[in-house]
Amino acid sequence: MELSFAAPHAVGSGAWVVAALDGSVLTPAAQKADKAAGGALSRGLKVSKFTGKPGQVLEILAPAALGVSRILLVGLGKGSDFDGSKAENLAATVSGRLNTAGESGVTYEIDVPKGSKIKSAALAAHLAMGATLKSYSFNHYRTKNLEEYESKLKKITISTDAISDARKAWAKIEGVAAGMFFARDLVNEPPNVLYPAEAARRVKANLSKLGVKVEILGEAEMKKLGMGSLLGVGQGSERESQLVVMQWNGSRKKSSEPVAFVGKGVCFDSGGLSLKTGAGMMGMKGDMGGAAAVVGTMQALAMRKAKVNAVGVIGLVENMPDGKAQRPDDVVKSMSGQTIEVLNTDAEGRLVLADALTYTQRKFKPKFVIDLATLTGAIIAALGQDTAGLFSNDDKLASRITDAGKSVGEPVWRLPMGPNYDKLLRSKIADMKNIGGAYGGSITAAQFLQRFVEDKRPWAHLDIAGVAFQDGEQKALAPGWGTGWGVRILNELVAENYED
Ligand code: BES
Ligand code: MN
Ligand code: ZN
Repeated sequence: MELSFAAPHAVGSGAWVVAALDGSVLTPAAQKADKAAGGALSRGLKVSKFTGKPGQVLEILAPAALGVSRILLVGLGKGSDFDGSKAENLAATVSGRLNTAGESGVTYEIDVPKGSKIKSAALAAHLAMGATLKSYSFNHYRTKNLEEYESKLKKITISTDAISDARKAWAKIEGVAAGMFFARDLVNEPPNVLYPAEAARRVKANLSKLGVKVEILGEAEMKKLGMGSLLGVGQGSERESQLVVMQWNGSRKKSSEPVAFVGKGVCFDSGGLSLKTGAGMMGMKGDMGGAAAVVGTMQALAMRKAKVNAVGVIGLVENMPDGKAQRPDDVVKSMSGQTIEVLNTDAEGRLVLADALTYTQRKFKPKFVIDLATLTGAIIAALGQDTAGLFSNDDKLASRITDAGKSVGEPVWRLPMGPNYDKLLRSKIADMKNIGGAYGGSITAAQFLQRFVEDKRPWAHLDIAGVAFQDGEQKALAPGWGTGWGVRILNELVAENYED
């Protein structure tokens, strides 16, 4: 896809996109297009249901006297409600339509609507973001009919009266789209291809060239560190478990405590000896969505040279049943020294995160640590596929995460924690068991993780089981299966709160 920003100009080919406000009020560019097309838009308005609401499109094909193949009049809604996320959805809708129509080029000429707080440079950047995110596809394994699946829309021009600011605004978020694409690719890759060592290799190859320091620890090194909890999960797999440690040092201050992100990277979750059903196993290649989000975030931070020190740690394992596999009833010792009675080998994500959390805190003494994980089916039952679960020991961190999520369209919802939930983890023979009772499964999982938070450090856990991949209806900005959820919210959290 070729994306460019240009000053308003006469559009001579491809699709021309202009806008109307609620009540079919044409913006100046739309009035210009209407005039150029001999009043075709005004006439079209009279014979259609278009009223200028967000999501509505009025299409004029092959307008007389113009070189363009079509004019698209898109609805912005009320000017006062129009914002960056509406602009992204608009561009995604237009891209979707033009792709279906077989169009190869488009020029956006969307004026900042009266009453909106958005600046024209930001508007242009958000249009670019919406069009880019919608252009994603994953076709590595198709050998037939590729043209049917690949995006036909190749050339996107965004016309703006603030070209240089628009380019700067886009340069700030371009890496977010790239990080999301990498995260989506990792989630979409099949588990026979993307096993722990291969995931680690790709992360290192991709991030090293951006200036991120990447270290890979294998099983021998993790054993030395005492990571019995993580290693127990991978014990039944033919594939070696890995811990990938990424560092981006972008702060100019001499000593700046890093922010830290930890991700669950279960490349395939069969459940282990507590084997899942056939249906329950479907999609479990995506059980590394938390790790993918952490990797994508590190990429986004590095690409925009964020002035922050950030650490990303992902625990990569495969959870398989085998003669050597971990048994329900096993007791393992974690790096923290705490012992865990493993009563269900399918509650493996928390076992991986426990050691990754301890390692991250002891090695880097971060300002805060946030973990992301496709941790529980229960969070999907509670919140569905549009909102991630948030758990935290720190109100300020929790509200910053919530705000970041709101502003980039990755909403989170905080759930309660407390000693009565924690009690449910008491084990008959060890420091804790890895499952709680029948109820509140997402909360007891979070309580388990909290037991590995040291020195009252601000910590948050995002349960992304419902949002990391999607089986049902597709989200506007996430075509395909893996969504790349998490990259945007973490990047925004850092950008708004933690840079020099
Ligand atoms: N990876 C699953 C959670 C999951 C389920 C993610 C569906 C995405 C979609 C996790 O490892 C798991 O199996 N959790 C169990 C926990 C239970 C055994 C306490 C669950 O949610 O059933
Ligand atoms: Mn599991
Ligand atoms: Zn899992």
